[in-house]
This record gives sequence, structure tokens and C-alpha cells, in this order.
Amino acid sequence: MEWSDKHLMAFAKRYPVALVRGEGVRVWDSDGKEYLDFTGGIAVTALGHCHPKVVGTMREQAATLLHVSNYFHIPQQIQLAKLLADHSFADRVFFSNSGAEANETAIKLARKWAKEHGGSDRGDIITMRGGFHGRTLATVTATAQEKYHHGFEPLPGGFKYVAFNDLKALERAIDSHTAAVLVEPIQGEGGINVPDDGYLPGLRKLCDEAGILLMLDEIQTGMGRTGTLWAYEHSGVTPDVLTVAKALANGVPIGATLATDEVAQVLTPGTHGTTFGGNPFSTAVGITVLATLIQERLPERAAAMGRRLRERLLALQERHRGAVKEVRGRGLLLGIDLVPPVGDVVAACRERGLLVLTAGDNVLRLAPPLVVPEESVDRAAAIIGDALGALRA
Ligand SMILES: Cc1ncc(COP(=O)(O)O)c(C=O)c1O
Repeated sequence: MEWSDKHLMAFAKRYPVALVRGEGVRVWDSDGKEYLDFTGGIAVTALGHCHPKVVGTMREQAATLLHVSNYFHIPQQIQLAKLLADHSFADRVFFSNSGAEANETAIKLARKWAKEHGGSDRGDIITMRGGFHGRTLATVTATAQEKYHHGFEPLPGGFKYVAFNDLKALERAIDSHTAAVLVEPIQGEGGINVPDDGYLPGLRKLCDEAGILLMLDEIQTGMGRTGTLWAYEHSGVTPDVLTVAKALANGVPIGATLATDEVAQVLTPGTHGTTFGGNPFSTAVGITVLATLIQERLPERAAAMGRRLRERLLALQERHRGAVKEVRGRGLLLGIDLVPPVGDVVAACRERGLLVLTAGDNVLRLAPPLVVPEESVDRAAAIIGDALGALRA
């Protein structure tokens, strides 16, 4: 930790814990202390730590072929693209290495599509206040939260912000310069903000009327986390573009931008690229993860375990009225809007062997693996209750 202070750029405030081993929903630190991991590596380890199928694929692919380049056909990349297309609205996929890169690709796609379909002055992307889309210059600008912008100006142009869950505000903001709307179906980092049921259908309608693209950032909500493979499935409408990363390869870096044929065709050879994106290793793991999610019906499991966890959190809210303002979220992406400082609750949970996340201003965020057993759900809720009780005492 002394070397960490000396040699790492201090971009994150780290907890005084070094995690060294994991299995399923459990992790151990360098002192041998065991924790229940309800962070899932920030909604990444959907199949849990060291899932035998994931480990098997990694071993096999690492010993067969790790990396070539996109000048060659990569069978695993083709198969993962087909699997994603077979299980979504999309026809085509571009693979990258992170969520931010997946969103960068979406932004580039939208601008090129709009120029080819609406005129040279159409390039603006409208995003929602409180959203989160990444840390590269374009995606941090798409992230309509000034606290992430401070000090990095000048920011790239062509982004406009409106209030989340406000269709009227969006309608007013769309003009002849707009290319697309980019939005999370549920705001994750922003505080587990769930919009009204009519919001996504309303967005679809406004985008269709204006002839602009609807792009969903499902980097946190995708891969079964909200109880369906993609969160848009709850809404009855489909997007034109969708981005996914985080859980797609259970921790091996990967990002993917999914699009309809009509939109995807604007990326012609030479217009975009990547060295690592879609390499045999990350896409082989992606196939294993996505196929396992589908075969083992893990989105349904996330819905059931999410209901169980939510029930227990609502019971906690009853018991700790002064400490819990609201429980919100969907499936296994849940937030507890707290009265006491969330940092104190996170620390009290950690002392009791439970790792949790924060979000928004003062929200405790839970994103456990989708394979979480019932007894771990119950135990996590009991620890949170104990932590809240101890802080009040
Ligand atoms: C909704 C959403 N979009 C984009 C990102 C950025 O992903 P990455 O950190 O892989 O670049 C995140 C990360 O938290 C996210 O939650």
C-alpha cells in the first residue's frame, strides 16, 4: 500500500484492502479475511469469480491463440457477434475493449449515419443529466455531470444535456443538429435512477418522429442484470444502437457496440478500427459467458434473486425508517438511498464481511453476481441491517 501511494496515479480512493482470491460470490483479502462480494467488480462478474467454464475457456484459448489482428477473420469474434445478434435487436457488432470505447463507437456511428441521412450539420448527441457513459474525452462529455468535467476543458463539442425521465425536455431539445439520443435504461453510477414505464417507448417515438437514432448504454444494465438479457426488453421497444461491456466477458476487458444493419453500414473499411478489440481471447470468453447466461437462464435468476433482495431491503427500510429513504432498481441492480453518509455504511458492511458499491450522491449500490445463492442474498441483507443498526446506536 505504501508503494501504491508512491507509484500509482491516485485516480481512485481505494479501500485499505487488497483482494487476492475469489470463488463464486466470495473473495478473500491478503490477510485471509473472507467477504461476500456484492460489488461484482462494478457489475462485471455476472458468473461469479473463477467460474469453471470461464476459467476453462481462458486456459484453452490462451494456449491456442491469444491475439492476431482484425486483418484476419477471427472465428470466436464472428461467433460472439452472431450470438449477440441472435439474442438482441441487432444485426451487426463492433468489438472494443471497454465501455467507454463502445460508447465512442456509438457516437461515431451516430454522427456518420446522421451526416449520410440528414445533412452535414447533424452531429449533436443528446444525453441525460445524471447519466454516466465513460471517462474518455467524448464519453466524459456525454456524461452530463459537471463534477467529471472539471479541469479537463476544453471538452469536445456536439453534446447537449436534458433532464432524465423528462420527455418534454427532450422534445424541446431536439433540433436540426441532433443526430442521436444516448441514454441508460436505468442510471447506474448516477444513483440507480429508474425512469417511468413510458419513458423508453416515449424516447423511441420522439426519435422516430425526428429521424434520429435511439442509442442505449446497457454497459451496466445489460447481460441479464435487470432480469432480462437487455433492460430494453422490459419496455417493448428496441434501440438502433446498444453498447455493452462490463459483464460480457466476466472481467476480461471487452466492449461491444451493437447496431441494426441500416446504421452499421456507415462503417466502411478504414473508417474505424482497433488493435485488441474482438481478439480470439476476449471473444472466446464472451461466447462462454453469454452462452452460459442464456443456457442457465440467469436473467430469470437475477429477477428472482432481485425480488428476494428487494423484499429484504424493504423490510430493512421499515425497521430503519430514519436511515433508508428509498429502495430502488430492477433485478440485481439495486440501490438504497440513505440518510447516514453512504461511506460509513460501506465501511461498516466491509468490517462485517460484505463488499458493496456506492452511486449518485448517497446511494448504496448492490450488483452481485447473477449466480448469487439465496443464503448469500439473505446474509447480505442481514449485514446491511446490522451495519445500519450499529451506525444508529
Ligand atoms: C452505463 C455505463 N456506461 C459506460 C461506462 C464506462 O465503462 P468503462 O469503465 O468500461 O469504460 C460505465 C462504467 O461504469 C457505465 O456504468
